[in-house]
Amino acid sequence: MTQYILAIESSCDETACAIIKNGNEILSSVVSSQINIHKLYGGVVPEVASRIHVENISLVIKSALEQANVSMDDIEAIAFTQGPGLVGSLHVGVQAAKTIAWLYDKPLVPLHHIMGHIFANTFVDKLEFPLMALVVSGGHTEIVYMKDEYSFEIIGETQDDAIGEAYDKVARVLGLPYPGGPEIDKLAKEGKAFYKLPMPKTENEFDFSFSGLKSAVLQLIQRERKQDHEINKADVAYAFQEVALHSLLSKLVKAVGVYQPKQVVLAGGVAANSRLRVVIQEMMKQYPNIHLTIPPLWCCTDNAAMIGAAGSVAIKYNKTNDLTLAVKPSMEL
Ligand code: KG4
Ligand code: ZN
Repeated sequence: MTQYILAIESSCDETACAIIKNGNEILSSVVSSQINIHKLYGGVVPEVASRIHVENISLVIKSALEQANVSMDDIEAIAFTQGPGLVGSLHVGVQAAKTIAWLYDKPLVPLHHIMGHIFANTFVDKLEFPLMALVVSGGHTEIVYMKDEYSFEIIGETQDDAIGEAYDKVARVLGLPYPGGPEIDKLAKEGKAFYKLPMPKTENEFDFSFSGLKSAVLQLIQRERKQDHEINKADVAYAFQEVALHSLLSKLVKAVGVYQPKQVVLAGGVAANSRLRVVIQEMMKQYPNIHLTIPPLWCCTDNAAMIGAAGSVAIKYNKTNDLTLAVKPSMEL
């Protein structure tokens, strides 16, 4: 029987709804981004984000159903991001999901945002287990080991800032607009190896740390200014990116060597980074038998299609819920 899932994502600053057929076919994926508004403030303002979600959510859902040309009768379940994320933003998606579920008597499938990012890869590739996912976003930096499709072991994670957060903060220091990740990505292409920044250190060999690196960039800029040196922004972006990515990927490759997964997948907004996509391919050449999947740009950043794909897997494991559920802003994978 054909399965249709209606999926909702509203954990940060994207209001999104998608209709997914049989787990990996996108009938529609509507994403309403708030970036242009948050840009005015230099970052996401949570109160503003939840208000805009309220304004947009019904239109986004209506439009996803229309574009997919399915009716609510066809829908098997409502999948949505339960957490982690901004509490006010999550509330809007969860309340919309619960309202539809009640009205049309459909089961609810609460999902972890990161499970969505990982399963975004099913739109472009078959997933083979054991699998290792490198999750890199504005809120997460994790190496997740999955021995099967519904098992998630975090074998390394950031001890402080997420890598996307570090990109955004460094961009801010350099006077670049929000979101800073794509700006640094672009600018670093014009940069060269000139400034030196320290390689982050952590106790656990697979953990990450980016706040020291971010502070080192700030100190570098202050030092140069004090000495009346003109700062070459492109060189700073280059230096930051090389250290951040080298630290990230050297740990991933080490973990791959220890765990020997069948497949490695990239996930999350920072997976859109052009340099990361090149370096990971180069570094993974030492494991020619391990399949590497790099998702296309459209499925790296937040969307609801990925929540639908994850929802289809969760349904197989009976992870449905009733109307009593609530948001989980600090939800664990
Ligand atoms: O997954 P995502 O859309 O939202 C979260 O779940 O956080 O990721 C957003 C993050 C932001 O920090 C943004 O700056 C970063 O992904 N990002 C990038 C690039 N595109 C987006 N970072 C580096 N290079 C990029 N090209
Ligand atoms: Zn995300």
